Amino acid sequence: MDWQILFTEWADFLIRWVHVIAGVCWIGSSFYFVHLDLSLRKREGLPQGVGGEAWQVHGGGFYHMMKYTVAPSHLPQDLTWFKWEAYWTFISGFTLLCWHYYAHAELYLIDKSVMDLTSTQAVAIGVGVLVLGWAIYDFLCRSKLGDSELALGVVGFAFLVGIAFGLTKVFSGRGAFIELGALIGTIMVANVAMNIIPNQRKTVAALIAGEAPNPAYGKTAKSRSLHNNYLTLPVIFLMVSNHYPLAFGSKWNWLIAALVMVIGGLIRHFFNSEHAGKGSPWWTWAAAAACFLGVILLSGLSRENSGAGLTPAPAANVKFAQVEEIVTSRCSMCHMAEPVWDGVPVPPKGVMLDTPQRIQLHAQQIYVQAVMTRAMPPGGNITELSDDDRKVLAAWVQGGALAK
Ligand code: HEC
Repeated sequence: MDWQILFTEWADFLIRWVHVIAGVCWIGSSFYFVHLDLSLRKREGLPQGVGGEAWQVHGGGFYHMMKYTVAPSHLPQDLTWFKWEAYWTFISGFTLLCWHYYAHAELYLIDKSVMDLTSTQAVAIGVGVLVLGWAIYDFLCRSKLGDSELALGVVGFAFLVGIAFGLTKVFSGRGAFIELGALIGTIMVANVAMNIIPNQRKTVAALIAGEAPNPAYGKTAKSRSLHNNYLTLPVIFLMVSNHYPLAFGSKWNWLIAALVMVIGGLIRHFFNSEHAGKGSPWWTWAAAAACFLGVILLSGLSRENSGAGLTPAPAANVKFAQVEEIVTSRCSMCHMAEPVWDGVPVPPKGVMLDTPQRIQLHAQQIYVQAVMTRAMPPGGNITELSDDDRKVLAAWVQGGALAK
């Protein structure tokens, strides 16, 4: 038994498990509080300092929620803070980013046909984007622009689309999408760690000192928390998209990312309007569906073959022996029971392409990964699968993917 592989594989899974759970907890509490905030209603006779109340029923009991817009007059004895779900999402997420994308930059981040980077350069750019991206976003929020939610939203969106475009000109599609997702995630966590929590600390400190807290603290914290709310859906798409090369493999991948941000915003707008009692803007679903259709269409235009098209050779001409030869020489070194490729300890995603039966079993996936998109071979075609060979694979699958 190979203990090292056994432990590293399970450590990887464990961190991913933590990441998903922490993310679920964070998003859950974020959605919950934005919903609660929007559903608060004013009425006569609320205690001093309370801006609104809401009644909720859950788990067999009734909850009577009240929000002190700035702060209560005294610091309550038991005060629950919400921050560790955000911090753990970041800690586990950044670990995964380093583990997979930074430690194996040549496979996941770099595409030499996009930009010929060394691993060190790629990682430096990756980390730089996270740090600078947050700094610029934070600067925009603090600038005059921050006075208008709408102006900030438009500029912030353009900023993220610009980053998406830039990343796709530097990294592989897969790498660009994970970096964009990581940047948005970093912005969201930094909002919690550098803005929301410090502002809440100041409010608490003022209460302890017996002073009236500055209402501005709560106001900026709330606006950052609303930004996070609007960024949640796109960030999940970007994280999951790495398993769907149609999303990142297209020439128009940056535009797909932009549309996804619009879709996320539209859907949040629907729920936020509804929770605030401002009606149900159903048009947002129609607009989101139209954007999603755009995503589907754009994903069909794959990166290099968009113009010329990979017109397959007539199926009759393709012998399985040809397919087997291609797959064995371009894919199997990673996709076999005990891969011989450095840094690939087990067959990725359990996909083994080392016998005729297994190749046939994965015909559709081979088509998606190596023909429709160019996600495989990874690292910008690291084993140099030629266009002619891709055509042979295409013709074989279209001709019924027979293993003889
Ligand atoms: C250098 C090693 C390497 C080579 C060569 C390689 N792959 Fe992969 N393959 C990977 C890795 C790593 C992953 C996992 C990617 C991920 O984590 O999403 C993968 C994933 C896959 C998947 C599963 C995708 C999913 O998300 O379910 C398929 C199918 C696949 N490869 C097919 C191919 C084909 C076909 C070829 C040859 C044309 C090929 N691979 C060549 C490393 C390789």
